[in-house]
Amino acid sequence: MAILASADPVTKVAASRALAAAWGEGAMALGEAKPPPRPARPERASLRPPKEMAKRRAFGSQASRIALLHALAHIELNAIDLAWDLVARFAGEELPRAFFDDWVEVAAEEAYHFELLARRLAELGAGYGDLPAHDGLWEAAAATSDDLLARLAVVPLVLEARGLDVTPQMAARLERVGDAESAKILRLIYRDEIGHVATGLRWFDRLCRAHSLIPEVVFQERVRRFFRGELKPPFNHHARAAAGFPRDYYEPLAARDGVNP
Ligand SMILES: [Fe+2]
Ligand SMILES: [Fe+2]
Repeated sequence: MAILASADPVTKVAASRALAAAWGEGAMALGEAKPPPRPARPERASLRPPKEMAKRRAFGSQASRIALLHALAHIELNAIDLAWDLVARFAGEELPRAFFDDWVEVAAEEAYHFELLARRLAELGAGYGDLPAHDGLWEAAAATSDDLLARLAVVPLVLEARGLDVTPQMAARLERVGDAESAKILRLIYRDEIGHVATGLRWFDRLCRAHSLIPEVVFQERVRRFFRGELKPPFNHHARAAAGFPRDYYEPLAARDGVNP
């Protein structure tokens, strides 16, 4: 809870790692807690609606690479809060301990991702909070705060899966402009994120089956109800399959004008 309430990213990351370690040692029991409706944020990163954010296309200039890494760091910072929010918000539901083990591990990985990006930003002479950032991720969380299946459908299975679709091209473009260091970080994050989608899907399926629901059908229904907009192809079927995420879940939700081989 203190992690969600802390605005300073450095504190948030350190506390995330410490809490994940204590949890891993079995030193903690689940408490009853009501997470804040939205996590605290540093004052400098002004939050804007996603539409106002400039498109990041060419990575030729250092400024554009900083803008990309800053946007990704912002996503990871939100991902830390989203993972802890999942643990805290649904602690009252009857879920096995393994559910919390999994999401605590995800939170620790998101903290690591933020650290890697923040360190890289520092190497490029910038820092998190220098640029404005959008608030789209937390909007998705707020909309699904009463419905665990909706939260799993929208956060790991729409938003994090979307990350799998776009990350390989970003890494390749960074490499092409000679920024192998940043590309390496993106590839590491990409590998971990396949795991996060896999974790999301495993629990989504398990909870659906426990209630005799058909997972694909519930997924489509929740996404249509809770996620604004269609899913954007082309999809990275290879990475999604590696996460165990079958096409028949998401393809029926694809925007029709997109091309998808
Ligand atoms: Fe991440
Ligand atoms: Fe993630």
